[in-house]
Amino acid sequence: MPQEKPLVIVTRRLPASVEARMAELFDARLNSDDHPMSEAELKAAVSQADILVPTVTDRISAQVIEAAGPQLKMIANFGVGIDHIDLKAAAARGLKVSNTPGVLTDDTADITLILMLNAMRRTTEGERLLRAGQWPGWAPTWHLGQAMRGKALGIIGMGRIGRAVAERAKAFGMEIHYHNRSRLPAPQEQALGATYWPDVEAMLPEMNVISVNCPRTPDTVNMLSRERIATLRPDAVVVNTARGGVIDEEALADALAEGRIAGAGLDVYDNEPRVNPKLIALETVVLAPHMGSSTIEARTAMGEKVIINIKTFIDGHTPPDSVFDDD
Ligand code: 8YV
Repeated sequence: MPQEKPLVIVTRRLPASVEARMAELFDARLNSDDHPMSEAELKAAVSQADILVPTVTDRISAQVIEAAGPQLKMIANFGVGIDHIDLKAAAARGLKVSNTPGVLTDDTADITLILMLNAMRRTTEGERLLRAGQWPGWAPTWHLGQAMRGKALGIIGMGRIGRAVAERAKAFGMEIHYHNRSRLPAPQEQALGATYWPDVEAMLPEMNVISVNCPRTPDTVNMLSRERIATLRPDAVVVNTARGGVIDEEALADALAEGRIAGAGLDVYDNEPRVNPKLIALETVVLAPHMGSSTIEARTAMGEKVIINIKTFIDGHTPPDSVFDDD
């Protein structure tokens, strides 16, 4: 790393306080008009930067990493998910890669509950009817949804966010079930009253609600495949605040359109910002535009983590949120 301030290229606008601190600490090149960078712009950025700060909207492919100059040392991602970065290519070039875990857990869990409640109680659908002048007035059997209490919630991915979803859902009286690569330590499981399912296929048909909270990795892509979606109960609601690609989006849309499941709440999609028109057409789907961490508090804390990761690295230490195990 050069003695002078490192050139840090940030691909999107970040909260003002984060950008101001970055400008003090680094030779920071900021994206003042906030346009998502093209592949050519990303290649140009890595050919000059010492450190790149991308977000989920940047595909840091092997080709982009190939275009990096020898000065590039680190990719300090703004966000916890790193499926948009070719980690193998980054590791092969000896790049450090860091992310921002922990500080967006609660806000992402909140959005998960917002979508779950909305899909179960059909509130956004009700609002649309009201705004369209189609509310006939209170009636005992009009526009009924499903209660949360007593329902079985199956959480796929019991990391920080999955556990925060479980805590919230427990407060709503739901029964907590989960599938994860590894089982939680017994005290944690007991505190949540959670039931572990080592086999996701056994869990799915028993659940009223499924919440996807795992990262997108080669192991989790298509976890909710067409075949598995076909095993869900007719009153099931599927919530995804993790990543598109973990669910077969087309198969989910088909199941909803054919009334084989009751509803869905989605925050993430296969080809963001494009959303499958089949999903948009469905009244039973609650759609949010990737808002899991969209609070000023979380985005500022994420920026703070990016700064700490970079600063620690340039001071000669391992970034606290390095994503490689051997760091
Ligand atoms: C972020 C997210 O806002 O952190 C993540 O992985 O999905 C979002 O909440 C986004 O990734 C920013 O890069």
